[in-house]
Amino acid sequence: MSANNSIPMVRAEAVSKSYGSNLVLKSISLEVQRGEVLCLVGPSGSGKSTFLRCINHLETVTAGRLEVEGEVVGYREKAGKLYEMHPREAAKQRRDIGMVFQRFNLFPHLTALENVMLAPGLLRKGGSKAQLKARAMELLARVGLAERYDYYPAHLSGGQQQRVAIARALAMEPKLMLFDEPTSALDPELVGEVLDVMKGLAESGMTMIVVTHEMGFAREVADKLVFMDGGVVVEEGDPVQVLTNPQRERTKAFLSKVL
Ligand SMILES: Nc1ncnc2c1ncn2[C@@H]1O[C@H](COP(=O)(O)OP(=O)(O)OP(=O)(O)O)[C@@H](O)[C@H]1O
Ligand SMILES: [Mg+2]
Repeated sequence: MSANNSIPMVRAEAVSKSYGSNLVLKSISLEVQRGEVLCLVGPSGSGKSTFLRCINHLETVTAGRLEVEGEVVGYREKAGKLYEMHPREAAKQRRDIGMVFQRFNLFPHLTALENVMLAPGLLRKGGSKAQLKARAMELLARVGLAERYDYYPAHLSGGQQQRVAIARALAMEPKLMLFDEPTSALDPELVGEVLDVMKGLAESGMTMIVVTHEMGFAREVADKLVFMDGGVVVEEGDPVQVLTNPQRERTKAFLSKVL
């Protein structure tokens, strides 16, 4: 794995994806540099989740080239040719990428601490039970939940559950975090606490791609805003620029509904 800073963390070059005859991503090209936060916005069905899922190996692209840190996702490159990875190898590549979904999917029968301790990233690194626990506690503290370590998910608010889910993803020590509408299942008053954790993560230098409708967050935290519609990147740029002075009619129409 290269630590070369000039290699983008994510690079999509004419990435397309279809389900049967339904072309869902149409020649997407974009780059995310190390340490950057990219916010991805767009109407329902525009392909945002599909794009994240491609980055994280949950889907394979139909055409084009998708790289994470210079490595083609899901493929080995040998002498200029691409060979599909063995699933085990793909799983290894995927472990470096954390993903947080709209639904937190915590194990209901485990406490917050146990949910984080069970993260494969922590288990992979091994160590004694006490070390695992200490590391999991650190991660819970990082998302502001040290005091709730022994709560079960049912006794945590949605925002707290989502923060546990973030701690669990961080346990993988990911080089890249993908968020797919992490706050859209939350009551409005709980959104802020999750966005604050994400903001802290961004400030710590984490590379992030965030699908969100939270334009305030995009404006404040993102380095780049990408507006997708119908499987294409319609417009991208500095978030403040795009939000205050969109160039395309489709962007204007979308923003007028969400702002
Ligand atoms: N597994 C699948 N099989 C077939 N079609 C799919 C599959 N997943 C997504 N699609 C289709 O791909 C298109 C894009 O879906 P996607 O979930 O990426 O959109 P989105 O931008 O994330 O939307 P939303 O804002 O509603 O989450 C939709 O038309 C959807 O029906
Ligand atoms: Mg989606």
